[in-house]
Amino acid sequence: MKKSNAKPAKISPELEKKIEELIGKMTLNEKVNQMLQLSYHALPAEEFNKKVEAGLQGSYLHVLGPETGRYNDGAASSRLGIMPMFGIDAVHGHALLHGATVFPSQLAMACSFDEELVEKIGLATAKEVAADGLDWVFSPVLCIGRDLRWGRVDETFGEDTLVVSRLGAAIIRGYQTDGLVAACAKHYLAYGEATGGRDAYDTEITERKARESFLPPFRAVVDAGCMTFMTAYGSIDGIPVMISRRYLREILKDEFGFDGFVVTDWANFQALVKRQYIAKDETEAAKLGVLAGNDMSMNTPEFERGCTEAVERGDIPMEFIDDAVRRILRVKARLGLLDGTRKRPDRSVIGCAEHEKLNYRAALESCVLLENNGILPLDRKKLGKVAVIGPNADDWRAQIGDWTFLSHPSPNPDAEPNDVNVTVLSGLRAALPDTEIVYEPGCVIEKEISDEESDRMMHAAIAAARDADVVVLVLGDDLAENGETKDRSDLTLYGRQNELARRISAVCQNVVTVMVTGKPLVLGEVKKCSAALLQCFNGGDLGGKAVAALLLGDENFSGKLPISFPYSTGTLPCYYNQYDYWHDGRYMDAPTTNLYYFGRGLSYSEFEYGDVKLSSDKISADGEFAVTVDIKNVSERDGVEVVQLYFRDLVCSRLTPVRTLIDFARVEIPAGETKTVTFRVPASSLGFVSEKYDNVVEPGDFRLFVSGDGEHFKTATLTVTE
Ligand code: GLC
Repeated sequence: MKKSNAKPAKISPELEKKIEELIGKMTLNEKVNQMLQLSYHALPAEEFNKKVEAGLQGSYLHVLGPETGRYNDGAASSRLGIMPMFGIDAVHGHALLHGATVFPSQLAMACSFDEELVEKIGLATAKEVAADGLDWVFSPVLCIGRDLRWGRVDETFGEDTLVVSRLGAAIIRGYQTDGLVAACAKHYLAYGEATGGRDAYDTEITERKARESFLPPFRAVVDAGCMTFMTAYGSIDGIPVMISRRYLREILKDEFGFDGFVVTDWANFQALVKRQYIAKDETEAAKLGVLAGNDMSMNTPEFERGCTEAVERGDIPMEFIDDAVRRILRVKARLGLLDGTRKRPDRSVIGCAEHEKLNYRAALESCVLLENNGILPLDRKKLGKVAVIGPNADDWRAQIGDWTFLSHPSPNPDAEPNDVNVTVLSGLRAALPDTEIVYEPGCVIEKEISDEESDRMMHAAIAAARDADVVVLVLGDDLAENGETKDRSDLTLYGRQNELARRISAVCQNVVTVMVTGKPLVLGEVKKCSAALLQCFNGGDLGGKAVAALLLGDENFSGKLPISFPYSTGTLPCYYNQYDYWHDGRYMDAPTTNLYYFGRGLSYSEFEYGDVKLSSDKISADGEFAVTVDIKNVSERDGVEVVQLYFRDLVCSRLTPVRTLIDFARVEIPAGETKTVTFRVPASSLGFVSEKYDNVVEPGDFRLFVSGDGEHFKTATLTVTE
């Protein structure tokens, strides 16, 4: 793939000069408005329109392309003519725009472990956003999805710090190719780790823990040239991140060298006064937030007066304002907004055939086969009647997930699907034109219906299953159960879904269950009822087409779980890289293991792993070593394997997780052939974060684990010498 121009172009001396001249000319009011991003939700219409006509706003959000005209006109007619940046939540495609390509969610695309694919998704999204007249994507989410009760797990790349780091950097390289759009690493910091999985709540982690698990993805994307960051709603150890000079100015800007700008999340400045009771008024809020390192306020109009007053009172020195404005103008310069060189692809790229093709590849790689008793792949010749049953079998809304034209910027439940959308039902109908396919939803998820209607649906589904050769049972969750403020205390399948699975499997033994969900749910019941079980997080517009092709063997599975599945909600957190337990189990009333582990994923191919070979069994703490393993595809089916390399320090002065992923690779292995996979590992990867925040590799023995499923391992032992 063409090496993308990941790091935004350095700014020319002429533009640096122009920026300094602008800052020299700008009034305080012009500077403060450059630091204020508004959406039409933020103000009464008349007041908002006045701001738009004045043309001083640094940025607008939730404006879609066709509406940008009046905003640009206002800016062009202003005294200095500084053009605004338009920001949008294009988090899995430019999906807020009806007709744009809706890719699989981040959690779904993470199942691919495919950095090249994710970078291409970033580039395709950037082209559609830029073509639509916008400039800035509030993406990627770099939160670590470890507490599954949290409502936004679907937006993460899963539970592993390395996977989040690598895929986050990949999608940013795609977004920022040739300065198409600015990316936005969010939500800084540890937003998903809040106590109880509660959205926007407090996270009780130490800085050491933050450096070990939560900061590395953000460091990785600074190194990839990410142009903007977004501060989280929440707090760490009782301090709202947006007023933490430690995390914003000292670590992000000084230590990591971040030279872009930081925008707050929605109305964070206002929250300091009205939700977190940290500031007595917006003047104090402005002082705390700007001094800590926030350069732009998202949607707190009061910021204008508060910040102006704080500067006039001397609470905020002008150099802090100038630094914020300089950072914003530099990003605008990189996007071509300061000198009229802004590049925009033609609108025909939006939802184009090339992106649809990429979307289909993404949907295929985002499906994970968890169980298969041999029923898959289905044989078309033996399919007289297929019963497609379940509430998510034909629910395109549940399939495409959150942050689309359905849910944002204003909820639009009556919208029609994109023309290209394919559900599991329509995908199977298209793939099996000569097979009798009957469809029954069987039950609802959380909609209110009468008992009579509920029983009727159940009986109709059982009747449809009774004489079917195969039942494809599609269960899960839907938009109402995923997203901001939608944390769940119980991850059991809603409604009568488990009952439906039990009763269907009582009349038909060939049940292929497809989970269409935003995040992991509790699947123990379903697993018992299924001859095969697929996990499909929100697969985007073509999710159903991919499922049909995979079930029929037209395509092969390659997806792996980027996140673990618990036996029950009470066993959370269930992420794989935890410490050993002192006693022989976590709970007296639940198994010690997860239902499914990070890294799992079956295939129609079968891979046999040879012994692990090390380039040396002894290395120095500043050395490097190679881990090599032969993997043979012993099946008759070409396949792709995601090879995972984990390690554990066997004796360490710090508690160490049972294993930690330090590398992974997607490897194509033709039927019958053997591929040699080699990982080159710096010894520093075997370190831990000390109290002084150094990365320390202690001498001693380390176990290396190579795996294709996160549960079965080939191992070798390495000694790090003094
Ligand atoms: C939301 C989200 C954030 C999003 C922003 C703009 O509340 O927390 O992820 O980018 O507001 O829509």
